[in-house]
Amino acid sequence: MSADLVVRGGTVVDSAWEGPADVLVSDGVVAALLARGTPVDPDVPVVDARGRLVLPGGVDPHCHVGFTSGEYTSLDDHRECTTAAVFGGTTTIVDFAIPRPGQRPLDVARAQRAKIPAGLCDAALHGCVVEWDDTTADQLRVLADEGVRTIKMFTTYRGESMADESTILRTMAALRDLGGMVVVHCEADHIIVDSQEHAAGVDRIGAGDMPATRPELAETASVAEVLAIAESQRTPVYFVHQSTAAAVELVAAARRRGLRAYTETVAHHLLLDESSYAGPEPERFVCCPPLRARESVEALTRHLFTGEISTIGSDHCCYDTAQKREHRHDVRQMPNGLPGVETRLATVFSEFVVGRGLSLTRFVELTAANPARANGLYPRKGSLMPGADADIAIWDPRLAWTVTAAQLHQATDYTPYEGRRLTGRPTTVVVGGRVVVDEGELVDGTARGRYVPAGDIPAGPVQ
Ligand code: URP
Ligand code: ZN
Ligand code: ZN
Repeated sequence: MSADLVVRGGTVVDSAWEGPADVLVSDGVVAALLARGTPVDPDVPVVDARGRLVLPGGVDPHCHVGFTSGEYTSLDDHRECTTAAVFGGTTTIVDFAIPRPGQRPLDVARAQRAKIPAGLCDAALHGCVVEWDDTTADQLRVLADEGVRTIKMFTTYRGESMADESTILRTMAALRDLGGMVVVHCEADHIIVDSQEHAAGVDRIGAGDMPATRPELAETASVAEVLAIAESQRTPVYFVHQSTAAAVELVAAARRRGLRAYTETVAHHLLLDESSYAGPEPERFVCCPPLRARESVEALTRHLFTGEISTIGSDHCCYDTAQKREHRHDVRQMPNGLPGVETRLATVFSEFVVGRGLSLTRFVELTAANPARANGLYPRKGSLMPGADADIAIWDPRLAWTVTAAQLHQATDYTPYEGRRLTGRPTTVVVGGRVVVDEGELVDGTARGRYVPAGDIPAGPVQ
């Protein structure tokens, strides 16, 4: 049998199956899963996966590349972000095209899409609507035709990217007929502004005061409102970075009523808690929603096991410590967000698969298959079944290592996981049938990033 590559001797883990198999790659896609040791043409290059897991490359559904908000722009470009992604075992990112005040969603999406070929791996794109005008419906139609079917909206960040409720409703209604979906950051801005004003009034508005400035209630209130809008329109909806069990449970209840509704969590809300704000450099942990109390984190993580969490993203935002420090005495002026595209898979694997018995198939479901499914990228991405792109993370489940920013590839000088001991990481990573990282070294730095257009997102209940 001839082919480009065979991954031999490993244990293949897909979202619904795991077992010993060799993966035959031809023309950049998975050609076949073979019984271990099935003879292939001796000229076919072999990637040795003995003693390791063979996973579909991770799909990060929430990754901001070179993201501008307020006075700050996060520090990576597509090449840097995807280099870090690939070293971490992620082979598809979904980036955002978020208009600055006065910009058109379609123009911003096309400009952001034009950057994807510089990447080491493929990328899809979320568009974004902030304000509704006479042209928005047409822009959404063109975006959907061009494969941008997930539209990010915010219920916070007034004057920057916040949309009002009627804009959310109109966008949902328009997307229903286009096979699209709103992807929403829910934090009720009025509650946040009020909390911040109280905090500022008693001089408790610094990075260390982050939790009180963005209470859990702000998230729950906004999720309830957005769910009601989605139910009124019978449209699918995807909640990004849900940080509380209460918010997750609202979405689960709506799903049981027949709404296609997804919960995304992000690694830092599962791995870190608000005690980070009591440390010496709380600014390193400033993100929205903020890290939550330990009991809240425990309640949230339980839903990895109940099945109510659909996906795990990174919400990667590559600011450095100088940017984080500058306004650390006033969170209202700080850049929000944490770097994490490279550590998403390994932190979750170590904590929940190694540490708490999450199954391998559920790990793949949460970090690769479901992000691809929810965003219209499956089965091309997030799977190792024949026909899928040959994006493969060969993973050593026993390798113990210590996270340190100096050894990561993210374009920043820090990681929120500095010094953390982890077990498990990718050793070799294949992108589109080419070995890009081999035994921890970059062996092919060719820019081959392809834009992956999203397919139709159905409106009916999640099966
Ligand atoms: O703090 C965060 N999450 N920053 C990135 C922008 C967003 O809200 O997703
Ligand atoms: Zn957000
Ligand atoms: Zn984000």
